[in-house]
Amino acid sequence: MFRIIYIFFVSVLFHQFLQDTCPDTVITNLHQQNCTNQSTSDISYYLNKTDCIPKCLPYSNENQTSSCHVNRNICLPGYQCEKRCGLDENLTLDCNINPNICLPGYQCEKRCGSEEPLGQYSCNSDDDCINIPHSNCLDFCVLSTISAGVHCMAYHLNTPEFADNYFTAEKFKPECDDNGEWVAKQCKGGVNGRCMCYSATGVRLFGEALYSNAENMTCACSRRRNDLESSGRTMVTFHCDSMGNYEPLQCDMEKNICWCAESKTGKLTSPVVPEVAKIKLPCYNTSSVGSQYLRQCESKKFAQSQITTKLKTHGAKYIRTDSLLCDADGSYGAYSISSGMAYCVWRDNSKIENWYSNVDSNIGNLNCNCARDYKRYSHSMTCSSNGNYQSLQQYMDEEGNSLYYCVDNDGFAKSGIVTNSSSLNCSNIY
Ligand SMILES: *[C@@H]1O[C@H](CO)[C@@H](O)[C@H](O)[C@H]1NC(C)=O
Ligand SMILES: *[C@@H]1O[C@H](CO)[C@@H](O)[C@H](O)[C@H]1NC(C)=O
Ligand SMILES: *[C@@H]1O[C@H](CO)[C@@H](O)[C@H](O)[C@H]1NC(C)=O
Ligand SMILES: *[C@@H]1O[C@H](CO)[C@@H](O)[C@H](O)[C@H]1NC(C)=O
Ligand SMILES: *[C@@H]1O[C@H](CO)[C@@H](O)[C@H](O)[C@H]1NC(C)=O
Ligand SMILES: *[C@@H]1O[C@H](CO)[C@@H](O)[C@H](O)[C@H]1NC(C)=O
Ligand SMILES: *[C@@H]1O[C@H](CO)[C@@H](O)[C@H](O)[C@H]1NC(C)=O
Ligand SMILES: *[C@@H]1O[C@H](CO)[C@@H](O)[C@H](O)[C@H]1NC(C)=O
Ligand SMILES: *[C@@H]1O[C@H](CO)[C@@H](O)[C@H](O)[C@H]1NC(C)=O
Repeated sequence: MFRIIYIFFVSVLFHQFLQDTCPDTVITNLHQQNCTNQSTSDISYYLNKTDCIPKCLPYSNENQTSSCHVNRNICLPGYQCEKRCGLDENLTLDCNINPNICLPGYQCEKRCGSEEPLGQYSCNSDDDCINIPHSNCLDFCVLSTISAGVHCMAYHLNTPEFADNYFTAEKFKPECDDNGEWVAKQCKGGVNGRCMCYSATGVRLFGEALYSNAENMTCACSRRRNDLESSGRTMVTFHCDSMGNYEPLQCDMEKNICWCAESKTGKLTSPVVPEVAKIKLPCYNTSSVGSQYLRQCESKKFAQSQITTKLKTHGAKYIRTDSLLCDADGSYGAYSISSGMAYCVWRDNSKIENWYSNVDSNIGNLNCNCARDYKRYSHSMTCSSNGNYQSLQQYMDEEGNSLYYCVDNDGFAKSGIVTNSSSLNCSNIY
């Protein structure tokens, strides 16, 4: 009875709220995909929810060739003027002469142009990187995987005017939600391909599965961790499974509490208990968890962050911490830095073959995806020496002719197959 009254009350309130903001509200079931589906070869549509009645509006089909500093309106909705907005943008200008060429939030310290990799700004702690949003100190300030990425709807613009635009995707078009942001789980390569987790802005996150095993994959845990990390939390101790879903046992080690979580959504399925009492939780499994909740990499990182906090409260200014990258399941991240070199490593921190690079070179783009996929699937694709995928791939057909195609950061084809490699420039294909 009370529940019925409660629901009635809430729905009256909700109705009232809508009436206050939108007098003639029409609730439609119009979604981004409905608009994307309307697109023709000439006009692309997107969902506009600004007014009370959501509608599909066409993208402007003006050419995006002028400088976006001159005309900021040429950028995509929700997108800022940076080097991705238009091919002619010249970020290699000296930023001492023109400070406006730096990206929003960047300072002109020889490093805002594409010519100057962020890797050239050395640091002792994350505090030294404070002027570079979302960057961490790994010997050099590197952009963490949070800030980069591309507006989701950008991939859906295929009007002739945009045909040579850097954005225009030939093969993969991400699924976008109603805000034009990336849906967390994106699959590439069809039924024989793989699904992977992404941030709202299209940055690859921890978590992947073969398409055939991905039915229950949600990436909800990886997304949540990424959201918390982008909001500035340095030590997030949720554990995600290999598909980016929640592991059954979750602990927040900063607050010393644990609980059981539903795999797909992270919803609580038990009371929250103090960390010492975790063995009483129904989801506690001695053989998979053991006495220690934190895994090897994150427990090192956790110890470091506690020491740093302690030293800071005692007035220490420059604290040298090891450079440590962990994955969302608590294991070691894609690369490990020692003596100025970034080595591609597996989950247990063992080096993968001989893929490494100098930290001075553009470490912000380092992902070691090719090296890790080699370890996982022993593929026969070509990796760059740093362990990323080489964007131009070559293979032989049955008659022994060489064929070429371009791949993206995840190793999936982003171009068609050609017989003449000089007719392909992979950096012009998105
Ligand atoms: C949008 O697409 C969904 C699924 O195909 C469909 O049920 C719905 O009616 C469509 N909405 C409109 C307004 O056409
Ligand atoms: C969009 O088109 C695809 C392929 O034609 C179809 O499977 C899907 O249901 C459509 N979605 C909506 C929301 O209309
Ligand atoms: C949505 O449409 C309204 C007009 O109906 C316009 O003022 C607004 O700029 C549009 N929003 C976006 C993000 O394009
Ligand atoms: C856009 O560029 C194409 C090719 O350069 C040109 O043919 C077309 O007239 C341009 N459209 C506008 C609106 O400037
Ligand atoms: C880009 O900047 C460089 C260095 O200032 C300059 O030489 C070049 O002409 C510029 N290119 C364009 C297309 O503006
Ligand atoms: C997905 O979950 C359902 C229900 O728990 C289960 O029956 C199914 O086997 C799962 N699918 C995969 C591919 O694991
Ligand atoms: C506990 O973990 C082990 C190893 O991961 C697994 O084989 C076993 O099925 C789990 N037991 C329960 C009750 O979930
Ligand atoms: C390969 O492509 C380049 C550039 O498109 C062209 O100049 C060259 O003649 C082509 N070579 C062959 C053997 O077709
Ligand atoms: C490929 O295109 C990029 C950007 O347009 C250009 O800088 C580069 O020189 C091109 N590479 C080749 C091999 O033509």
